[in-house]
Amino acid sequence: MKEKLLEKAIQMRTKAYVPYSEFPVGAALLTSSGKIYTGCNIENAAYPSTCCAERVAIFKAISDGETEFTEMAVAADTKRPVPPCGTCRQVMSEFFDPDMTIHLTNLNKNVQTVTTDQLLPFSFQKEDME
Ligand code: THU
Repeated sequence: MKEKLLEKAIQMRTKAYVPYSEFPVGAALLTSSGKIYTGCNIENAAYPSTCCAERVAIFKAISDGETEFTEMAVAADTKRPVPPCGTCRQVMSEFFDPDMTIHLTNLNKNVQTVTTDQLLPFSFQKEDME
């Protein structure tokens, strides 16, 4: 499944709307029921309105009623496997188990597999508001 997710993440870069950065990113998210939700980055003339590929995939899945996830892949044309931004790490920590695996890659197929907790340790959680 890792290879399939990586392939879909790389493919999704072709759908990215990136007239400003010209930096396409793709993501693929596997649900525990076996469905794959994909995402690409979607930019905006008002730059902060941009949504990253990872969040597009996560929000597509959540808006479809999916809440259980097992694996994700993210791809971009970077020297090292692409590191997700801070906002995406926080969103991942909301919906993914701390030990869920996330495969980060580049176009040279350098893959780094990390967990949600490795990406954002000591993350703010809903329990912190109790
Ligand atoms: N971007 C992503 O989609 N995911 C990442 O992990 C890193 C950054 C996007 C946001 C923006 O469209 C472009 O890459 C440059 O920051």
